[in-house]
Order: sequence, then C-alpha cells, then structure tokens
Amino acid sequence: MTAPLRAMILAVSPEGVIGLHGAIPWRHPGDLRRFARVTRGATVIMGRRTWESMRGRPLPHRRNLVVTSRAIEGVETFPGLALAMAASEGPVWLIGGRAIYEEGMGSCDLIDVTYVPDHVDHPDAVRAPAIDPAQWDEGPLVQHEDEPGLTRRVYTRKAPREA
Ligand SMILES: NC(=O)c1ccc[n+]([C@@H]2O[C@H](COP(=O)([O-])OP(=O)(O)OC[C@H]3O[C@@H](n4cnc5c(N)ncnc54)[C@H](OP(=O)(O)O)[C@@H]3O)[C@@H](O)[C@H]2O)c1
Repeated sequence: MTAPLRAMILAVSPEGVIGLHGAIPWRHPGDLRRFARVTRGATVIMGRRTWESMRGRPLPHRRNLVVTSRAIEGVETFPGLALAMAASEGPVWLIGGRAIYEEGMGSCDLIDVTYVPDHVDHPDAVRAPAIDPAQWDEGPLVQHEDEPGLTRRVYTRKAPREA
C-alpha cells in the first residue's frame, strides 16, 4: 500500500521571501485558487503565526491543525509538528510558515513552489528555507495554470523520507 502524501506548498518572491509582518506581501488570486484546489480534502498543518494570519478562520473543506505551545480556541492544536503529523490521516500538506517548512522538510515527499515576481526587500521578511539539491529532484519550471505571470515547480524527494 502506498503511504499517503506528505507535502509542502509555498509561494516565494525572487528573494526567497514568503512573508512579511505576519502576512503574505503579495496578492495573486489565481494562486490562492490553485492552493485551495490542491489542498482540498486534505489535512493542512501550519505554525501559529500562519494561523494568526488567517484571523481565526480555518481553511474550509480541510482539517486544519496548528502547531503551537499555546492553547488556541476554535482549532486543533499540537505542541510539535511530529505530533500533528501523527494525528493526521490521508494526505497532509504543510502550509507554512518558515518554522514548519524547515522542520517538515525531512518528512515530506514533495515540495510545491510557486514563484511570484513581486520583489520584497525588507529586513523583517521571513524567508523560505533552502531546498538541498542533494535531497530533492528539481522538476521543470512550468507556467502557473491559474495565474498568468507566475511560474511554479515541484521538487520530489530523492531518498525515502523519514518515518
Ligand atoms: N508565501 C507562503 O507560501 C506562505 C505560507 C504560509 C505562511 N506565510 C507567511 O509566513 C509568515 C509566518 O511564518 P513564521 O515562520 O514566522 O511562523 P509560523 O511557522 O507560521 O509559526 C511559528 C510558530 O509556530 C509554532 N511552532 C512552529 N514550529 C514549532 C514546533 N516545532 N514546536 C512547537 N511550536 C512550533 C510556534 O508557535 P508558538 O510561539 O505559539 O509556540 C512558532 O512561534 C507569515 O508572514 C505568513 O503570512 C507565507
């Protein structure tokens, strides 16, 4: 039996930025549409700051899990990523932010990256972790199907993931 998908999905600026001041510093509705389509029906796992950026509204049609040391009302919380992963059934998408991407990279099979053209040059910007070419096969750069002007790429793991 094939193990269920464990993957991460992110959008990055040309500088590798994913966030600024608790938000995503660009707006590309087509990418949000694709994000919703790709993650629909799955479990999504996020860090507490990413949860806060959603203003207390869980993403619909998905099981929302938040990794945090705090107690938060209205959503399932876990004190660590491994515990959130262990509580998940079926496909899982890690949806940010940096802390979650960094820790989760070892336990994912696939990284789905959208490239936006918006430049973000700010000392407070949150950057995506590097994707190690020794660990990941880089798929082709393709045009984003929902948003003209964006591109995207899928990385797949070279060696079997950690348990
Ligand atoms: N461009 C994109 O695709 C994308 C996607 C998602 C988010 N973002 C942006 O990224 C930024 C947020 O990223 P971030 O890295 O600052 O924050 P984050 O990863 O969303 O949240 C960090 C928090 O999550 C909890 N956490 C993370 N790992 C943990 C662990 N192993 N054990 C226990 N708790 C853990 C901690 O919460 P506590 O402090 O409560 O313990 C930590 O302070 C925002 O600007 C957001 O808009 C961008």
